[in-house]
Amino acid sequence: MLTATGITVETGTHHYVLSRLGLLLQEKKYQSMMIVAFDVHLPSMMKTPSFLASTGWKNPDDASKAPFQLGHNTDKTIFGLFAEKPQLVEHFNAALSAVSDAGVYNAVLETPWNDIIGRVDSGEVAMVDVGGADGHVLRQVLELYPDLGGRFILQDLPDTIAKVSVDLNKRIEVTTHDFFTPQPVKGARVYHYRMIFHDWPIDDCRRILRNLKPSMKAGYSKLLIGDSVVPESGASLHQSLIDMTMMTIGAEEKNETQFRELLTSEGFSIVNIWRSKYAIDSIIEAEMAI
Ligand SMILES: C[S@@+](CC[C@H](N)C(=O)[O-])C[C@H]1O[C@@H](n2cnc3c(N)ncnc32)[C@H](O)[C@@H]1O
Repeated sequence: MLTATGITVETGTHHYVLSRLGLLLQEKKYQSMMIVAFDVHLPSMMKTPSFLASTGWKNPDDASKAPFQLGHNTDKTIFGLFAEKPQLVEHFNAALSAVSDAGVYNAVLETPWNDIIGRVDSGEVAMVDVGGADGHVLRQVLELYPDLGGRFILQDLPDTIAKVSVDLNKRIEVTTHDFFTPQPVKGARVYHYRMIFHDWPIDDCRRILRNLKPSMKAGYSKLLIGDSVVPESGASLHQSLIDMTMMTIGAEEKNETQFRELLTSEGFSIVNIWRSKYAIDSIIEAEMAI
């Protein structure tokens, strides 16, 4: 089985060595990815057929009534359950880094942050990474563009922030914030949400936008959404797999029409979609519509 799935290579009769993939799986962050796949997502996937049968085969659209709750015998959302299981938060954060490092999500690397952020004075906020987990995206942006001015702020839930132990760039300010409450940082140049909108059904996405908008400065602040923008047809296997995984938590991957409808109806206009050549994610750049 290990050889058939490419984790080991058969070098002779009953003789095996680790393949490149096998060697990667020795790294802690890739092991965490497996733990999240098996302990978080697989139980929900297993319950998806019976959940769908019980709801008349409708797409789940409520984060607290989805296959996840059936699979984990809970009434909590995925992030609510993480609050009770700190070891899972550590694995989840490590898995997110692994997903970036493996190149699945890496549009951040191909995006011209110096053009998007531009010149920001030292006391002003250049970028807030909302729901930014352990700060790995901010770290990448600052590594790629160390000359960017202004402040860089990481926000996430208290239980996730409590686990931020990686060696963060000293310029990153680590704070707690629940994105279903009003955004406390006013007038930042960029508010960035990666892999956030795909975690939530559309009504919750609206709540996130409504809690952000009053803090944005018209004509200056930008909203950046980093997610897979699924094509109307011909979605890749990877995009489809992540879509199904999101379905188990009551959410979905979205296509361009869905993002346009969401953003336009909440008073935003899309300025650009920075598409990745290599990864499955894109970065949607939007501003408040005038
Ligand atoms: C799929 S992860 C994406 C993390 C990070 N943005 C990245 O791209 O690696 C979703 C993140 O949203 C955070 N989150 C969930 N609910 C939240 C809330 N209500 N307020 C703030 N962050 C939240 C989680 O803790 C988690 O770090």
